Amino acid sequence: MSADKFYVTTPIYYVNDKPHIGHAYTTILADVLARYHRLKSVPTYFLTGTDEHGQKVQAAAEKAGMTPQQQADGTVVRFKELWERLEITNNDFIRTTEDRHKLVVQKILQDLYDRGEIYRAEYDGWYCVGCERYFTEKDLVEGNCPEPGCGRQVDRISESNYFFRMSNYQDWLIEYIQDNPTFIQPDFRRNETLGFLRKGLNDLCISRPKSRMSWGIDLPFDDDYVTYVWFDALVNYISAVGYLADDEMFAKWWPTSCHLIGKDILTTHTVYWPTMLKAMGVPMPESVFAHGWWLVGRDKMSKTTGNVVNPMEMVDRYGVDPFRYFLMAEMSLGQDASFTEEAFVRRYNADLANDLGNILSRVVKLIHANCGGKVPQPGEFGPDEKLLSETALAAAGKAMEQVESMRIDLGLASLAGVVREANRYLERREPWKVAKQGSPEELATILYCCAETLRIVSGMVYPVMPGKMAELRACLGLQEEEPAFGDLLEWGKLTPGSAVGKLRPLFPRIKQEASAQEKPTKAKAKQKTTEGVAQIEFTDFERVELRTATILEAERIEGADKLLKLQIDLGCEKRQIVAGIAKFYDPEILVGKNIVVVANLKPAKIRGVESNGMLLAASAGKALKLVSVDGDEVAPGARVG
Ligand code: MSP
Repeated sequence: MSADKFYVTTPIYYVNDKPHIGHAYTTILADVLARYHRLKSVPTYFLTGTDEHGQKVQAAAEKAGMTPQQQADGTVVRFKELWERLEITNNDFIRTTEDRHKLVVQKILQDLYDRGEIYRAEYDGWYCVGCERYFTEKDLVEGNCPEPGCGRQVDRISESNYFFRMSNYQDWLIEYIQDNPTFIQPDFRRNETLGFLRKGLNDLCISRPKSRMSWGIDLPFDDDYVTYVWFDALVNYISAVGYLADDEMFAKWWPTSCHLIGKDILTTHTVYWPTMLKAMGVPMPESVFAHGWWLVGRDKMSKTTGNVVNPMEMVDRYGVDPFRYFLMAEMSLGQDASFTEEAFVRRYNADLANDLGNILSRVVKLIHANCGGKVPQPGEFGPDEKLLSETALAAAGKAMEQVESMRIDLGLASLAGVVREANRYLERREPWKVAKQGSPEELATILYCCAETLRIVSGMVYPVMPGKMAELRACLGLQEEEPAFGDLLEWGKLTPGSAVGKLRPLFPRIKQEASAQEKPTKAKAKQKTTEGVAQIEFTDFERVELRTATILEAERIEGADKLLKLQIDLGCEKRQIVAGIAKFYDPEILVGKNIVVVANLKPAKIRGVESNGMLLAASAGKALKLVSVDGDEVAPGARVG
C-alpha cells in the first residue's frame, strides 16, 4: 500500500434484506484500517454504500408489495443505523440509485459503446436468476448454477443482448496479476483467479432486457435495456470519488489502496473490474483483499436454516467494542471463521474481562490506595521491568506490521500476549505485598510499568475498540482520547503525577450459560464412543486453544529427571513451558522442532518452574513421540483444529 494516502472500500451491500454479521465484519474491518491509518496521520478515505439495483432487490420489493425504490429506501436506513451503532467512520456512503452514480455509469457505457468495447449479439445459453448471471453449457455444474454456494436450477434463454469485450483482456490480465503479486490477496485467492482466467475468458453480457428485469440503470444507447447490476455496482468505487465529475478529488484518492471483499465476489472484483478499468483507461486498484465467511458453528449462515446472526442484537447484548474486538480477533486472513455466542463469551471473558480488565482494575486500585491517585514516578528498572518494557514495545511494533499485512487477528494476539505477560509480571512482583512491606519506590516502579504497558496496548487496540480504549486512557490520566501514533513505539510517555481516574469495570465478566444449541440433551449426554469415552460437543473442543509453536531452547531442570524447560515461539509471544519428556528426548535435538501446544492453559509452577502451556505428545507403552507439524509453511502461532 502506498504510504501517502489510504483509500479503503467495502462491497456495497444489496438492499434486499437487513444487514447481517458478514456485512458488519467487512465494514468493521475497513473501519479499523481507516482508523489505524488516520492515527498514523495518513490521509484516509473510507467508502461504503448500498447496491440497490438488480433482480434480488426487485424480487424482494415485489414480495413486500413495494416499488424497488421504496424497498431500497427502507433497507438503506437499517444499514446506516447499524454503521452508526458500530461507530463506523466512513467518509461517504454511496447509493447506486443516486444521480451522481447513475450519470457516471451511463457516461462509461456510452464511451465504451462508442469505442466498440461494447457490442450487440444474440445470446443463447443458461441464466441463473439468483446470481443474475449467464453461463455457457460448459460452465454448469451438474446442469446447475456453478457459483459457489448457489447451485440453483438455471433457465435456458435465447435473447439479444450487449456484451463487453472482456475476452480481449485475458492475456493482459494474467500478466498483470503475475507481475503484481500483491494485487490479489491472500495468495491462494490470486491462484484461484489465475486458474479461472486460464480456463478462457468469455465476453461479458452487460445488459438485461427490460421485459425481464427493469430495475437498473438504462443503457444510454438502447432504451429497451438496463445494465447488468455488476457493471453498475463496481463503478461505485470510482463514481464516489469524483470520476468524470471532480478530477481533483479523483486524482487525490484513486487508485484505491484496498477493496475489501468476501470470497464469493472474487471473480467480479479480480476479473470483471480490472478489465472494465483497463478498457476505460483507469489505473488498477492497488489491492483486492478477499476474506473468508462467517459460519455459525460449522454451518453456513442462511435464512432457511434460521441461523442468521443479527449484529444489532449482539451489540445490544454485549456492547459495540467487545463485538468489534471479537470479529477482528477471531477471523484470520482469508479463512472462514466460526461464530457462536459461546465462543464470543469465552474470548470476551479470557482476553477482556480476565486479562485486560483485571490488570487495569488492579493497577488503578493500587495507585489510588498507595500513590495518592497519581501516576507514580518509577525508580530503577530490574530485569523483570526491562523484560516487560521490551516485550510491550516489541509487541506494538509487531502488531503494526501485522495490521499492515492484514493480520489484525495476529496483531491483537500479540497485544493480548503482552497483557498476559503484564499479569504474570504483576503476579511475580506482588505489589500488594510490596505495598505492605517493600519500598515505596519499588511499588511505584511496578505500578508505573503496568500502567505504561497499558498505555501502549490501549493505543494499539484503539482502532478496534475506540470507546473502551478512550475510557481506559482517560483512566490512566492521558489527556488526549486518541493516542499519538509515534508514542506507541516509545517507552516512558506516561507522565508521572497525572491524575488517575476512578474506574468502573471496563469489561465486567459475562456469566456463561450454555445456549440451547450447546446444552447437552439427555440422549446426547449418554452417548459414548465404542471405547467408553464420553462424546463432547464441538464447542467443548473449541475451548481448547491449540497452536503451533517452535522450540527455541531446551534444558534439563535440576533435580527433576523427567522434566525439560522449553522456551517456545508462539508467533505473537515467547513462552516458557515445562514438559515431562526428558526421558524420551535430549534437549539438543528439540531445538527448531515445530510442535503443538495447548496455549490457553492456566499457568502453573512445576517443581518451582513456571510453565505457560502444555505440549502435545502421543504415548504408547514405553514410547513417547511429540505431536509436530511437518514442513515450514505453517508459521508458529497457527491455530490447530
Ligand atoms: N452487492 C454485492 C457487492 C457489490 S460490490 C461492488 C454483494 N452484496 S451482498 O450484500 O450480497 O454481500 C456483500 C458482502 O457480504 C460480500 O463481500 C459477501 O462476501 C459478504 N458476506 C455475505 N455473507 C457472509 C458471511 N457469512 N460472512 C462474511 N461475509 C459474507 O455481494
